[in-house]
Amino acid sequence: MRAHEAGALHADIGHPGPAWLREPADVNQLLPQLWPRNVSRGADGVLQVAGVDVVTLAAEYGTPAYIFDEDDFRTRCRQYRDAFDNADVFYAGKAFLCRAVAQIVAEEGLSLDVCTGGELAVALAAGFPPERIGLHGNNKSLSELTRALQAGVGRIIVDSFDEIDRLVALASDLDVTPRVMVRVTVGVEAHTHEYIATAHEDQKFGFSLASGAAEEAVRRILRAGCFHLLGLHSHIGSQIFDTSAFEVAARRVLGLAARIRDEHDIELPELDLGGGFGIAYTSQDDPASPYEIAEQLEKIVAHECAAYDLPLPRLSVEPGRAIVGPSMFTLYEVGTVKEITLDAGATRHYVSVDGGMSDNIRTALYDASYSATLASRRSSARAILARVVGKHCEAGDVLVKDEFLPADIAPGDLLAVPGTGAYCRSLASNYNHVPRPPVVAVRDGGARLIVRRETEDDLLRLDVG
Ligand SMILES: Cc1ncc(COP(=O)(O)O)c(C=O)c1O
Repeated sequence: MRAHEAGALHADIGHPGPAWLREPADVNQLLPQLWPRNVSRGADGVLQVAGVDVVTLAAEYGTPAYIFDEDDFRTRCRQYRDAFDNADVFYAGKAFLCRAVAQIVAEEGLSLDVCTGGELAVALAAGFPPERIGLHGNNKSLSELTRALQAGVGRIIVDSFDEIDRLVALASDLDVTPRVMVRVTVGVEAHTHEYIATAHEDQKFGFSLASGAAEEAVRRILRAGCFHLLGLHSHIGSQIFDTSAFEVAARRVLGLAARIRDEHDIELPELDLGGGFGIAYTSQDDPASPYEIAEQLEKIVAHECAAYDLPLPRLSVEPGRAIVGPSMFTLYEVGTVKEITLDAGATRHYVSVDGGMSDNIRTALYDASYSATLASRRSSARAILARVVGKHCEAGDVLVKDEFLPADIAPGDLLAVPGTGAYCRSLASNYNHVPRPPVVAVRDGGARLIVRRETEDDLLRLDVG
């Protein structure tokens, strides 16, 4: 378990939190970049979403609960679709997927990236058009590939030589022509503001470029004669804020496309640059808009194509977090508050809520930063530095490492953590036999359950005794 900084008082900022965290002038303030667009504080101080206040939501659906601003999600889908109007946008279902979300994604005109048989099953159960589905995965089983081919998915992103062999056999058995892309590991790894470009690629995904595996994969696919090869695919990381890493990736992958043209006399019609566009989790994050991202990626691809004398391929991208992340927040109830005195005499308040690492593992797993606000009322108390923790039997069960909350925060208050739409419900667990929270979609003054709360009966049903 990673140690969390509890450290010495920062002389310059006057509190023991990270240097970027500043005491807010108004502890009730909502930073617009962190919240779904239909969230505001009502005249009574209570947080409301699309006209429904969180006290009502908590009374009806309980806490913890993921609250989904449906119109915010639809707007983000539409913005990506409009920004990439000459490209295909595959919403990455791994960020969060359920049938209602798959239906909205379909209605808003996006395609869908799934990476397991389970995600594919949800998409198909939602009636998602199979020709707009792309199937990912570094270890797709024979049955997953069979189901995908029988359903008629639009593309399979091939990830290994074993998978090519499986697909060759299935193409013959099922009498189909798999539409495939080759996932290339370009030696660029990007996270947040940094990226590393290395000569060799030490990871489980894709075919390495440096070793020649990617070229060999294309050779085998073409030689098999049973595929429709759409093009190359590259995904370089997550929470990326600038496009310089995409530039390196595009240069490398298009260089490969040029070598393939020279060797096989074919021009690959498509290029997928994956997902990974960053979102704001705290005041320090400043993400680009979909329009800025689209403009930059299209410019990069045009520039590299010109350099290699290649025709422009049809571009696709696979944003997950950037579409669903900001559309949800998690609503918790505060259970206990403890004041801890730190070494330098400063204090930190531990605010325990009724969820934790089982509904949001990202803080413990990735050392991710989040924000939080008192949601059930406005407070005029001074701001105190707080750490929001869960109810699990684990010292590392931290949700929000550092945040300023009002000093009068108390048991029974509702607390909201924004930016929890991506990789929270989808990564949720039953650790300590805590049932997973529901997802409640709110739109135009009405709320509906789209994923119900798990119950202890659900957990016991799997335990066959
Ligand atoms: C191949 C691929 N595409 C898209 C994504 C989505 O990334 P994000 O949600 O950061 O946009 C991922 C995430 O792991 C991925 O592996």
